[in-house]
Amino acid sequence: MEDKKVILSGIQATGNLTLGNYIGALKNFVRMQDEFDCNYMIANMHALTVRRDPAELKENTLKVLATYIAAGIDPEKSTIFVQSQVREHAELGWVLDCYTYMGELNRMTQFKDKSAKHADNINAGLYTYPSLMAGDILLYQADIVPTGEDQKQHVELTRDIAERFNKLYGDTFKIPEPYIPKAGARIMGLQDPTSKMSKSSTIPNDTILLVDTPEDIMKKVKKAVTDSEGVVKYDVANKPGVSNLMTIYSVINNITLDDVEKEFEGKGYGDFKTAVAEAIVKELEPFHKKYNELMNNREYLEKIYTEGAKKASEKASKTLRLVYEKVGLI
Ligand code: TYM
Repeated sequence: MEDKKVILSGIQATGNLTLGNYIGALKNFVRMQDEFDCNYMIANMHALTVRRDPAELKENTLKVLATYIAAGIDPEKSTIFVQSQVREHAELGWVLDCYTYMGELNRMTQFKDKSAKHADNINAGLYTYPSLMAGDILLYQADIVPTGEDQKQHVELTRDIAERFNKLYGDTFKIPEPYIPKAGARIMGLQDPTSKMSKSSTIPNDTILLVDTPEDIMKKVKKAVTDSEGVVKYDVANKPGVSNLMTIYSVINNITLDDVEKEFEGKGYGDFKTAVAEAIVKELEPFHKKYNELMNNREYLEKIYTEGAKKASEKASKTLRLVYEKVGLI
């Protein structure tokens, strides 16, 4: 146990999770459990950077927790916790704010995107979000941070902050490595395959949610934007829609893109889309059943996050104590 490498990652509590979250992050979280000492957080404090209905935020926190477990994260193997329940996150976040430069934060593409989207609420939290995230990671002395492509920049900034701190005060933080999967790190929208599939997309049928029914999934995939060529071939620049569906199919079936091309040689998009939808439905079938059971068992969810917070706090408090000592906070 002591020798296992440490993993920390998280997902924001901002609504029903998407197939992008599943393929880019969650599927890897599950896979890594046996080999590593895993810590999986529900990032509810990060969610406050955009205005939220309080009751909805609470409900979304439980939804992510149920999604984690239903997708296969085992609370006996991994530490699953809610960010706001482990106070060290807010505390280290503040300290790291003081070791993060505005020039660095100005370069974050997520900040630029979100400020454009929420022009009426460009708050300081949205801006300093990456130092809170750095704290999440560094508190656990994580070796590896599995995420999709869009979070890589934040993990790289975390490394810079940790190296800066270590240089000033001596070895304090482990320098974490990002782990971005080779395939599926950026699943695109089904209607707009040039933009990331996102929980917050407002385009109808653009996003597959993990809670979608098999009928919804079939309908959305059938409507997915393709091209007029009629050939199942991977070519992101010219065939972004088909390439995205191919990625989804290959990751779910654990086969290469070449295999996908071969399998659908001489077949049209109709057959291909049916196969993609069926693969997604089959993959999510066990998830659905478990998820519904969990959402109807609030007591169990409460028990899991209470125990998780205790375990997480024990780990996080060690790092925070060291940091306070180093910087001279009594
Ligand atoms: P969030 O909640 O936006 O996304 C959660 C995870 O899902 C991945 N992801 C995708 N992967 C592939 N294709 C997509 N279309 C797609 N959309 C999302 C994300 O890359 C991410 O891995 N700031 C983080 C949450 C966070 C965190 C952390 C992550 C807070 N503290 C510490 C790692 C470590 C976020 O907003 O992820």
